[in-house]
Amino acid sequence: RQPALIDRFGRVHRSLRISVTDRCNLRCTYCMPEHTPQYQPRSEILTFEEIVRFTKIAVSQGVHDVRLTGGEPLVRAQLHHLVESLCAIDGLDKVALTTNGVLLEAQLDELLAAGLRYVNVSLDALDEETFHIATRRSGLQRVLDGIDAAVAAGMHVKINSIAMRGLTEDQIVAFGEFTRRTGIPVRFIEFMPLDSDGHWDTGAVLSGAEIIEMFSDRVRPLIPVPNHGSAPATDYHFNDGLGTVGVIASVTKPFCNTCDRFRLTADGQLRNCLFGEDSGDIRELMRSGASDDRIIAAIQSAVAFKKRGHGTDDLSFLRPSRPMHAIGG
Ligand code: GTP
Ligand code: 5AD
Ligand code: SF4
Repeated sequence: RQPALIDRFGRVHRSLRISVTDRCNLRCTYCMPEHTPQYQPRSEILTFEEIVRFTKIAVSQGVHDVRLTGGEPLVRAQLHHLVESLCAIDGLDKVALTTNGVLLEAQLDELLAAGLRYVNVSLDALDEETFHIATRRSGLQRVLDGIDAAVAAGMHVKINSIAMRGLTEDQIVAFGEFTRRTGIPVRFIEFMPLDSDGHWDTGAVLSGAEIIEMFSDRVRPLIPVPNHGSAPATDYHFNDGLGTVGVIASVTKPFCNTCDRFRLTADGQLRNCLFGEDSGDIRELMRSGASDDRIIAAIQSAVAFKKRGHGTDDLSFLRPSRPMHAIGG
């Protein structure tokens, strides 16, 4: 297949992130508002049929992999039916899920039978007290059980952990020990200005460089692992070969110049960047009977107008109008 989705800076777009709901069963401080969020009305959420149609069209334009996100994707009823339809699409190499893990064990058998093999679990703390501060809910044990069950079932599992100064610093060494014990890769993500409450400031960003230093000082020195070009994470092994840790330094070392992704929100809006704005109304197109060619044109146009970078370090930076749970992580 010819790559068809190329932007003004020569970046080929192969990776599609689909948010299936803006709802969530946790209330992470860096994402959701503390009080009842204004959820998108049910009638505006794309149906599974609409998502599958869109994905087939995107695959015809060179998309290789799809990641389902939320909010929390597993709160969407019967998600495994969508997974099954996506796994059956010819030419799609990878269908992956990013989840907070609370419902993972309960839905694991259905997800496996549907063909899911790649799961990233978001987990910021390994003790119940810090978990509760970060997510404003309980449920750590269920997440850990979900991770164990998914690994035991042969899924490829990674952990994503948001690093926030003053909140999760003391978790970092604990996660180092966790990956050394279990072999499950843990990646630390710099806190980005996407929280609903608008509390983000640069002071709260614990940088990838600081995290690496913490491991070297307090656990063991790290050795870099070569990565494929568009991966946002820089990965390391400890120098005795046990455990894998990575950093996704979106703020201090943006990976925008190799970005290959675009997004479809749960309410059917294209977004060419996590920090962009809505750039194509797929729901409106589909519900007014648009042909596949018109949808292809909408995707091409969204990619064509993508900005060079997110510019969070720029004084003129404006936060996106949607918080993370309404975009998809
Ligand atoms: P793998 O395929 O397993 O490498 O997954 P991934 O890293 O592409 O996806 P995942 O959902 O695990 O993303 C990890 C984190 O990277 C997300 O939670 C976001 O915080 C961040 N991230 C994902 N996409 C983008 C993006 O387009 N831009 C920026 N700046 N950060 C992103
Ligand atoms: N900064 C960085 N990552 C975030 N996520 C949610 N909000 C933020 C933020 N403000 C991540 C979650 C999860 C994914 C869905 O997005 O931790 O890994
Ligand atoms: Fe829910 Fe994920 Fe947002 Fe946490 S980061 S509130 S788990 S959508």
